[in-house]
Amino acid sequence: MKKVITYGSFDLFHEGHYRLLQRAKALGDYLIVGVTTENYDASRGKLNVVDSIMERIEHVRQTGFVDEVIIEDHAGQKVEDIQRYGIDVFTVGSDWTGVFDYLKAYCQVVYLERTKGISSTMLRAKNYGIVRIGVIGTGRIAGRFVPEARYVSGLNVESVYHPRLEKARAYAERFELNHYYDRLDEFLKSVDAVYIASPHETHEPYIREALLQKKHVLCEKPMFLTKKGAEELFDLASGMGCVLMEGVKTAYCPGFIRLLGIIRSGEIGEVRDVEACFTKLEKPSSRELTDALYGGSFTELASYPLLAIVKILGKDYRDLRFETFQNERGIDVYAKAYLRYENSLATVKAGLGVKSEGQLIISGTRGYIVAEAPWWKTKSFETRFEDGSMNEKHFSKFLGDGLRYELSDFVSAINGFDKKSYKLTRTESVWMAEIMEKFLKRRNGDGAGGQGQRHDAGV
Ligand code: CTP
Repeated sequence: MKKVITYGSFDLFHEGHYRLLQRAKALGDYLIVGVTTENYDASRGKLNVVDSIMERIEHVRQTGFVDEVIIEDHAGQKVEDIQRYGIDVFTVGSDWTGVFDYLKAYCQVVYLERTKGISSTMLRAKNYGIVRIGVIGTGRIAGRFVPEARYVSGLNVESVYHPRLEKARAYAERFELNHYYDRLDEFLKSVDAVYIASPHETHEPYIREALLQKKHVLCEKPMFLTKKGAEELFDLASGMGCVLMEGVKTAYCPGFIRLLGIIRSGEIGEVRDVEACFTKLEKPSSRELTDALYGGSFTELASYPLLAIVKILGKDYRDLRFETFQNERGIDVYAKAYLRYENSLATVKAGLGVKSEGQLIISGTRGYIVAEAPWWKTKSFETRFEDGSMNEKHFSKFLGDGLRYELSDFVSAINGFDKKSYKLTRTESVWMAEIMEKFLKRRNGDGAGGQGQRHDAGV
C-alpha cells in the first residue's frame, strides 16, 4: 500500500484545498492529512486562522479523500510522521516548491500545482473586509505598532491622531501613512478601529469618544485607572456593538498561553504562590518619574505582573497591601503589591528606579515554574520538581515586538469571532483597573496627586 501525507491549515476550506487533497489521494492508496493547531500556526506567524481545529478537520474529512487525519503541532514533526507512518510520498502545493526538499532523504516529495486565484488569505479579506485602523498617540509604543501591523492580514493602518499636528505629521511620514489629524472627530471618521497608545490618563476620554462614534478600540495597558471607568466603557462598548480590548501583549502570546495551560493541567499541583517582577530603569527626568498624578512604577509596569496573577489565581483575593519607595514628587520609583487569596499568596514587584531580576515564579504543591525575564514576552519557561530529573524546559516563539498577536485577535473579534476573548476578559481588565485605582488612591491620598504621603517600605 502506497502511503501519502500532506499538511496544511485548511482554513475557510476552499476549492484549492479540495483539489490538492483530491490529487494527493491519487498519488497513492492511503492519504494522511496533518492539520495544524492554532498554537503551531501562531508560532510560525500565521495569526489569522478563523476556523477552529475541529472545524478544519471536519472540512478535510468531508472531502472523502482522506483516510486519516493527524494534528501537526510542532516544527520537525514531518520527519517523525514520515518515519512513524511509513510514508512513501510527501506532497504539498507548489507555493512551497523547494522548501521540503530535505524530506527527500526519507520519501518521495511531490509539489502539486497550486490552484490559481484562491487562498484562505484572500477569503479572509473578502469575507471580512479590511479593517481600517488609526493610531492615537505617537510615542515609543506607538512606534512599534505599524511595523507589527504589517504581519497581520485583514487590516490597514490608515491614519494617526495627535493633538499637535506636527507630531501627527512626523509619525505619518515615518510610517508612510496617508492621513494625519489633530482633530479627533475628523480622525475618527477616517477609520473603523483605533489603537490607543497615549498617556494613561487620556485613555478613558479617547476610548469614550471612539466608542460613541462606533469605532472598535484596542488600548495599551493600563487601559483604565478606575473600576467605574472600566465598567462604564465596557458597557458602552457592548451597547454600541464594538470591540474593546486591553493591549497587554503577554496575554495573547503563544508562550504565556502554554504556561497557563500547564498550570491548569495540574502538573505543578495546587498553586500556592505567584511572584511576578518587572523593572525597567528610567531617567529621573522621564515622564514616568515626573508625572505626579499618573506616573510611577506601578501604573507603568504592574499590568504584566497583575495579568499573571489574575490569570493564575483569579480575581477573588481577600487582602491587598502595597509598599513603595517614592521620590520627592511622591512618585513610586519602586512598588510592591501583596495579595492574599484563600489558598495562595501573590506578589507584584515593579521598579523604574530599582533594578531586580524580572522573574515570574509560580509555586505549587508538586513543583514550580520559573519564567526568566523577559517573561512578559514569553519565549521559554521551566517546570521544576523536587526530583530534578523531571525538570523540563518549554520553548515558544515570540515574534518581533509581539503586538501582532493581540492585533490578530482584535481583528478576529471585529470580524465577529469572539472565540479568543478568553485570553483577556472584561472581568480581568476591570480587576486590573480596580487594583490600579486602589494603588493610586493609597499613593496619592484622595486624588491629591503628588501631595500624598510619602509611604516607605515597611511603613
Ligand atoms: N493550496 C493549493 N491551492 C490553493 C491554496 C492552497 O493547492 N489555491 C494547497 C497548499 O499549497 C497546501 C494546502 O493547500 O498544500 C493547504 O494550504 P493552506 O496553507 O492551508 O491554504 P492557503 O489557502 O494557502 O492558506 P493561507 O492563505 O492562509 O496561506
